Order: sequence, then C-alpha cells, then structure tokens
Amino acid sequence: MAEAFVHISKVLGGGLDGKAVRLRGWIHRTRSSGKLCFITLRDSTGIIQVTVAKGAVPEPDFEGAKKALMESSVEVEGSVAADARAPGGFEVRASRFSVLGPSDNFPITEYQSEEHLLNFRHLWIRSQLLTQVMKVKATVLAAAREWFAQNDFYEVTPPILSSNACEGGSTLFEVSYFGEKAFLSQSAQMYLEAIMFSLENVYALTPSFRAEKSRTTRHLAEYWHLEGEEAFVGNDRNMRIQEELVSHMVVAAAKKNPGELKALGRDPAQLQKMVPPFGRLNYSDAVKKLNDRGMELPWGNDLGTNEERVLVEGEEKPVFIFNYPKQAKAFYMRENPEDTRTYLCADLLAPEGYGEIIGGSERETDGAKLVERLRAQNTPIEPYQWYIDLRRFGSVQHSGFGLGIERLLRWICRQEHIRDTIPFPRTINRISP
Ligand code: 4AD
Ligand code: MG
Repeated sequence: MAEAFVHISKVLGGGLDGKAVRLRGWIHRTRSSGKLCFITLRDSTGIIQVTVAKGAVPEPDFEGAKKALMESSVEVEGSVAADARAPGGFEVRASRFSVLGPSDNFPITEYQSEEHLLNFRHLWIRSQLLTQVMKVKATVLAAAREWFAQNDFYEVTPPILSSNACEGGSTLFEVSYFGEKAFLSQSAQMYLEAIMFSLENVYALTPSFRAEKSRTTRHLAEYWHLEGEEAFVGNDRNMRIQEELVSHMVVAAAKKNPGELKALGRDPAQLQKMVPPFGRLNYSDAVKKLNDRGMELPWGNDLGTNEERVLVEGEEKPVFIFNYPKQAKAFYMRENPEDTRTYLCADLLAPEGYGEIIGGSERETDGAKLVERLRAQNTPIEPYQWYIDLRRFGSVQHSGFGLGIERLLRWICRQEHIRDTIPFPRTINRISP
C-alpha cells in the first residue's frame, strides 16, 4: 500500500513514475465511457488526471467514481504513469477510489454571467482564476513583511474603529458605537504617526473602508491597506522606500508564482524588471505633458483614470507623480517650502494604465497649519485634537504612505476588475456572500 498522502504537485514534478501514491482532493472535471472514468483531480497544488478503470478497482469504487459529480471530495490510491496525453504529463491509474463528501449538482458551469459568479462566490472561490490570484497575493504579502523586517520596521496593530476621519467625510462608513457615532478606518495613518514617536519605523496591514459610491473597476468598499510611517524621513526618501518595497513584492511574485502569473496572462519576466529607480514626474510637468497630448487638465485638479493612463504611456515601470496642488490632497501633508501652492507628496502609478497604487506624503509638523486647514474646510477640530497634539510633544520630520494591496494585485495579475483580487469583494451593490 502507498504511504502517506502526497500533493499533486509532487506527482507532476516527476520521479514517481510507476510508484504507488495516495491523493486527496476535489473532482475538477469528470467523464466516463462505459468501463473507464476520466477524472481530473484538484488539490491546493495542482490538477492531475486520474483514470478509474472497471476491474482495476473494487466494483463499488468504480460505481462510486462513475456516479461522483464534479466538486465531490475524494481519496485515490493508484500508480503514477507518465502519459504524454495527460495534462501535466502524468496520470494516476487508480487501484482504490472513494468519495469522502459527495457533491450536489454544482451550480457553476462553463459560461456564466459575472452576476451569477458573484452570487455563488462562496463556490466560485475554488476556481482556477481566484486560486491563482490568492496564491500571488499570499506571496506578495509575505514579501512585504519580509522587506519591512529586513529594513527595521516594526509591525503594529492600529484600531479599525475610530471617532475621526483620515481621508475626508465623503467616503466614511458610519457605525453606531455604543450609541455614539464612530467610523470604520479609511487609513491607519494617524495612529501610525502616533506610534512612530517610539518605534520610529512602523507599518500595518489592515482592512480599510471607503464608502465609494461609484461603480469602478478599481474601487472596493473594503480593501487591504499596507501603510508605513517613518521618522526622520522626507518625501524623497519616502519614495525610495516605496519603490524598494514594491519592487521586492513584485519580484517575489515573479520568482515564486511564474506558473500562476502566466496562467493569468502576465509574463513573469516582465515583473522581474520592476527594480528601482521608478520614474518621477512633478505634478506641474504632468499637467504640461497632458496638455501637450491634447488633454485639458486645469492646474490644481486631481488626476483621473484617463490622465493616469496617459501619464504612464510608454513606461515599463511604475511612475511617481509628486508635489500635487493642495486642493487635490488631504490636509495632513507638509507644505512644499519651494512652492507653497503644493504639498510634499507623491502617488505611485502602475504601468499599463492600472492607475494609483500608493498615496504617500511627508506630514505637516506645524500644528497651527493643521488647524487652519481643517477650519478652512469647515471640519470640527475636536476629533482631531489628539492628532494635532502630537506636534506639541517632540515632533520630527516624518513621512509615510499607503499601498492598496488589491490595486497592486490588479496590476501584477492583469485583472480587469479589482474584485477578482479579493476573495469576497465588498462593493456598492454587494455585501454577500
Ligand atoms: O491615497 P489614499 O487615500 O491615502 C491614504 O489613505 C493615506 N492616509 C495613506 C498613508 O499615507 N498612510 O489611499 C492609499 C491607497 C491608494 O493609493 C490605493 O492604492 C488604495 O489605498 N485605495 C483603494 N484600494 C481599493 N479600493 C479603494 N476604494 C481604495 N481607496 C484607496
Ligand atoms: Mg490617493
């Protein structure tokens, strides 16, 4: 009898030809012709063809295999055989076959509407597409943590429930907090700034929430936000930190998940090239570039999807757009001493028109300026008092950034829609399953 269970990738890796193995997983596809069942078996590592022949297995096993529907969970014992016709080059010829958990008729077949797939997301999550993306995501998150650890950042755990907004009121989710008004976090930034005073270099990976009322292919209502905050760092060094981090994450995916990336339509060799330095373009030069290309963007406006696409045309790597006008950005950024109409900040745009993946800035250290800006936008000061206070107790130059994990994944996995970079997307018209 075969020893312990092995994973499918082990069999497909070769070297087990003629050997007995035990596998377990789920039926991906199945068909039978009289005395032979062809089953493709799926586990977390891959897909392999299993043949169950009448006479080669006990009769009840054969009957069970014939009846078992797609997505049944099964256990197989058999011998590995090299077979050029089998996908992956090997098949397993069963000597035993048993159904662990039978499946009803699976509600997802080949051509289904997006809506149907979203309604059955709890089952569609098993699809090759989502499995591949989730594997790349796991790699990218592990690589981020690895980079931060190597560069002396502490991981910290800021709150999600908060009594003040970070990114402005229009996208806030309100919750009732023991009868008081509270909000779901849009960003951990303000808390990271507070923690920076003891740990200097900190980061957090948290869910962030944005009540985005428009339907777009790059906005989620709940997304994973990777944020860093760095003491004694200005906007230039902030950009260097970001490009090193992003490069580390993207190159890790290229190395660890070439198969998944290829299946998703992304050439891993292309991602290997995402090494620093990334391009840098001043906002004012960006406006000139857009105007030269016949796109009217009045100085002062934020960049939209179209503008972001045009600005990266012909660029292989991501590009920073830096020093945006104040009216386009949030109140906490440091005023640019060389052009006080602007802030010391930068957004990182992914190539190929995937758009903004990071927003970052040097932070304003002048408490009076923060108060002035909040007043100018008619925001009550009181909820921000603690944040403004930080400037009174040993303030230092500091900078930080927030990277949208799903935005990054959308780019590297070449997904049209951001919802396919998160297992259970939350958007304006969906919170279930
Ligand atoms: O540019 P944002 O709003 O910046 C901040 O929240 C800062 N407080 C971050 C910081 O400095 N610590 O958001 C940061 C990033 C964006 O660049 C984008 O990648 C992502 O978060 N993001 C979203 N991702 C998915 N769905 C949404 N609705 C998103 N909104 C922002
Ligand atoms: Mg932004």
